[in-house]
Amino acid sequence: MQDPTSYLSSDRFTLCEEDFNDIDLKTKFDKILAIGLFEHVGNLTKSFQKLASMLKDDGKVLIHIITTTLPYNITHPFINKYIFPNMRVWNYDVIPEINTDLKTINRWYLN
Ligand SMILES: C[S@@+](CC[C@H](N)C(=O)[O-])C[C@H]1O[C@@H](n2cnc3c(N)ncnc32)[C@H](O)[C@@H]1O
Repeated sequence: MQDPTSYLSSDRFTLCEEDFNDIDLKTKFDKILAIGLFEHVGNLTKSFQKLASMLKDDGKVLIHIITTTLPYNITHPFINKYIFPNMRVWNYDVIPEINTDLKTINRWYLN
């Protein structure tokens, strides 16, 4: 999981190279930033549950996710097979329905 030879590894920083779906960290975090990850993980409800379990009680997470305002989620067998496995661009308004474990404080949409 941790690569001690990586230039990114130090006493203050641990690099974990692992599928988010399989990750099982014992640490709980004050803050988590997820940039451009959740288009790729498959089951977003499960991923948000996992994210919530990784936060301290008053912990916060910033989730950046590519969404669409089209009335459906976008996925494609070709992209899933050859480019991004499990890739899905979620409809912007579906995200709160999918999220069962994180309390939303703010949402921003940039086009
Ligand atoms: C769109 S890139 C964003 C990369 C980076 N955060 C940035 O802003 O440049 C998506 C990243 O998610 C990673 N990724 C995709 N599926 C993943 C998974 N199941 N678990 C962990 N990382 C994953 C990819 O390796 C890739 O680095």
